[in-house]
Amino acid sequence: MTNTRLIDNFNREHTNLRISVTDQCNFRCIYCMPEDMQFMEDDAIMTFDEIVHLARIFVDLGINKIRLTGGEPLVRRGVPELIKQLGEIKGLKDISLTTNGIGLITQAKDLYDAGLRRINVSLDTLDEAKFEQMTRRKVLSKVLEGLQEAQRCGFDPIKVNAVAMKGFTDDEIVDLAKFARDNAYQLRFIEFMPLDADDIWGRNMFIPGKEIINKIGAVYPLNPVSMNGDAKHDPAKLYQFEDGKGDVGFISSVTEPFCEQCNRIRLTADGQLRTCLFSITETDLLTPLRAGAPDETIGDLIIEAVKQKEPGHQINAVNFVKPKRNMSMIGG
Ligand code: GTP
Ligand code: 5AD
Ligand code: SF4
Repeated sequence: MTNTRLIDNFNREHTNLRISVTDQCNFRCIYCMPEDMQFMEDDAIMTFDEIVHLARIFVDLGINKIRLTGGEPLVRRGVPELIKQLGEIKGLKDISLTTNGIGLITQAKDLYDAGLRRINVSLDTLDEAKFEQMTRRKVLSKVLEGLQEAQRCGFDPIKVNAVAMKGFTDDEIVDLAKFARDNAYQLRFIEFMPLDADDIWGRNMFIPGKEIINKIGAVYPLNPVSMNGDAKHDPAKLYQFEDGKGDVGFISSVTEPFCEQCNRIRLTADGQLRTCLFSITETDLLTPLRAGAPDETIGDLIIEAVKQKEPGHQINAVNFVKPKRNMSMIGG
């Protein structure tokens, strides 16, 4: 049992916070943002001091895991220093980072030295042409280099996130699995969610997790892993390769929503608390922080917002309303 004070009306306890450190990115993935994305103004973005200040308040309320996200977090200068400062917060048990991988070539060592041990790297395809179509950038080899550098530095686990899209990923599923097995990465296939900026999402665009499990299982037999303890709250359902060469995860947010087990909340780069990836409303924490509100007041805002958390996403409902913010502004 945790001691979190962040309990919602459905009795879900929240211990996991995702903080977006910037909405900017050096890629333009088609499932995330448009080529001509308008980014937030510099002074709207939380400073590192503000991030650490808010993180302390969250940890006091029971958050014990923080994941840094973006946009692409490593385009912001000084992330290793931020990790070091977050690492000093008593009660915080785990810090992790989700990145597109390029920044790892130059920053993996500094991140490791700052205390980071867990990273998730987005990589949807091993084909240079498809990679360019997906990200609108011709840099597949740099992502692969970043992954290798992270492994050299000792990061463990290294998770590889692949958003599975019809017409792109179908014929690469087994190749991606082989790549992950050969390199000891934990591959996770993610169902494409309607958080793109260009409105390309549609029911014919994602590949259901089950379909991928069957395709991989036919070549490399798989067995489901029972998810107990903290793992119950992970979005990825894991399957072990029968031959012992690691496991593969499936984040099937659309076909198998896991909202009932959700223990996550999110802070955007401009200091807005989002209780769900698909929240329509947000709670502004940065304005009161900048106005000098006492920590207790900000804590009360957080407790109240979490209490009112929505039961879950409505992707499959006829009246689904897409959030105004796209994935790069939320951080995944
Ligand atoms: P760990 O379990 O700590 O490794 O992290 P993670 O898998 O939650 O983080 P990551 O940033 O790698 O996210 C992978 C995918 O899961 C992204 O597409 C996220 O948007 C998605 N995801 C993470 N948390 C949630 C959630 O609460 N709800 C939904 N629907 N998707 C989520
Ligand atoms: N649906 C599912 N996953 C997405 N990501 C970005 N946009 C989407 C989307 N529309 C993934 C990225 C990254 C993680 C944070 O979210 O690939 O791995
Ligand atoms: Fe950048 Fe990640 Fe969005 Fe791709 S998914 S554009 S890497 S923030």
